Amino acid sequence: MCGITGIVSRVRTDIGKILVECSSKLTYRGYDSVGVAAVHNGTVDLRKDVGTIDMVDQQLGLSKMKGDRGIAQLRWATYGAPTRINAQPHFGCTEVFFGAHNGNLHNYYEYREHLIETGHIVRSENDGELCVHAVDKYYEETGNMFEAVRKSTRDLKGAFAYAVGRADEPEIYAVKMGSSLVAGVADTDTIVSSDLPSILPLTNRVIYLQDGEMIVLTPDSIKVYRVEDGKLLDRKPEVSNVDAHAAEKGGYPHFMLKEISEQPQVARDVLGVLQDAKSEDWLRLLEDAEKHYLVACGSSYNAGIVGTYYFNKLAGVPLIPTLGGQFGSMYANTLTEESLCILVSQSGETKDILNVLNHVQETGRGKTLGILNVIGSTLMFNANSFIPMACGYEVSVPATKTYFSQTIIFAYLATKLGERNGNLDPSEAKSVIKMLKEQLPYLAQQTIDKTGILAKNLATTLMDAPDLYCLGYGFTDGVAREGALKIKEICYNHCEGMYSSEFKHGPLSIVTEDYPVIFVTTTEDSWMVINHINEVACRGGRTIVVGEKEDKLQPYVQGKFDYLEVPKSNVLLNPLVDVIPLQLLSYYLSVDKGINPDLPRNLSKTLTVD
Ligand code: F6R
Repeated sequence: MCGITGIVSRVRTDIGKILVECSSKLTYRGYDSVGVAAVHNGTVDLRKDVGTIDMVDQQLGLSKMKGDRGIAQLRWATYGAPTRINAQPHFGCTEVFFGAHNGNLHNYYEYREHLIETGHIVRSENDGELCVHAVDKYYEETGNMFEAVRKSTRDLKGAFAYAVGRADEPEIYAVKMGSSLVAGVADTDTIVSSDLPSILPLTNRVIYLQDGEMIVLTPDSIKVYRVEDGKLLDRKPEVSNVDAHAAEKGGYPHFMLKEISEQPQVARDVLGVLQDAKSEDWLRLLEDAEKHYLVACGSSYNAGIVGTYYFNKLAGVPLIPTLGGQFGSMYANTLTEESLCILVSQSGETKDILNVLNHVQETGRGKTLGILNVIGSTLMFNANSFIPMACGYEVSVPATKTYFSQTIIFAYLATKLGERNGNLDPSEAKSVIKMLKEQLPYLAQQTIDKTGILAKNLATTLMDAPDLYCLGYGFTDGVAREGALKIKEICYNHCEGMYSSEFKHGPLSIVTEDYPVIFVTTTEDSWMVINHINEVACRGGRTIVVGEKEDKLQPYVQGKFDYLEVPKSNVLLNPLVDVIPLQLLSYYLSVDKGINPDLPRNLSKTLTVD
């Protein structure tokens, strides 16, 4: 949530242009409002408003702003409505100080009151403004920006990062206290940002900051200090090999469609990663643990549900799936030193997940294995070990290829673990791995080709469905939840994902003539799912089936496009590919409804708040 970018340049006089170019790469973090503060000839030009960066740029000419340094911020609203006044960056009491933050201040109410009582003019209801006032306050005391930033950071409680500057000093200062921050050094510019994509247009020489560190940007250098005692740290830039063009649409109308179509390659890449030497460490962590908690949110949690079924079937090992936000009150007291928390997070920055990571580390009860996509994320640096999802950038707000990669990781780990603990004999394990490696990428491609047009046509028939259900059974439990989440998230139709045998325990009462219910099935479970389909069909409901072609399912399909038929494969591959037609269905439904699926309203891809 929210993205900040600060740039100091030795040669530029048109800082707005590069700030817009770089910070637009963070659009997935927030698009409620946008602002740029640029310093030109000793004065700060601050322009901001509600909307996406493209809209606000067009309206206020952000990319035409003059100056040699500045800060841009893209906001996902939490404290304060998404209005112009609450948009960031903010000034301090006077227009000398400017700054912006990402994250949340937990002492917002008390600190805001304290600042107002001590004479500060706080204009907005946004907590980011308090960071700027805090620096303003301590500058008055010390007359020194470096000390003012250090002292301010001690006052501010929560998980956040902020960047701040003064009109009459050439540096920009930034601090990391729980939210991500990366810096980069280019030939004539230095840059700090919430995430790597906005650094890459300028440079691939980067430093990942750690919590409790502050950075000072001058046109020629970046220096990292410890906030606590102001000690200069020896941090050298490393070369990032992430492809700067990965965050471009490459001819697709939306990132979401591009990312869905990348899934065959994701299968190849992630299986390559899983077969390298490091997987021995991951398997040992899994083997040595006496309890396995699976902690995730949203799509990552849905993938974890699929993983729970793989672990049961292939390894005979129970995973305890839990939402990040639930873990503390539901399971924290049951942790032992032999527990393993598998923390699944695309961004590696989700606060609900980092809370669990911190709890395990602070109590020393158990170990952590991260499954993450963003290299350089807080989860990557702090988990005992981590498995990369190997997806490259996922720019679209709805998760697609990262969910797919997560489910493959679970299928792989469960197979290898099952082989080691004797739940599978070596030849069985070998044939599952062979199937994943050799068949899955092709199967994913065939599924995209085969179901794309069906999903597109089906979407047109669901435009006016105010709500619907998406039901799964056994292995497709997590798949159905994921399909429903996609439809809710980017189409704004209410869609509930649930276990199909539970539907008769209440929700069935919603079914009237033509009420749509999607059933996702594998060939192993279709005999059971038919009962659940019948319960809907005999009440006049419209049943839509996602699964392999089976003659016994055909009679339940009424419309021309109501069978999203996936290619024939194997019961272990069905749950992996069954999600693809649901991703495509949600994509086309979203586009048909005139929604931009990449930027659904009210959302952000990286949720660094509680
Ligand atoms: C849905 C979606 C979200 C994320 C959730 C967790 O399409 O993207 O539900 O899955 O916010 O995010 P990560 O995986 O970054 O922890």
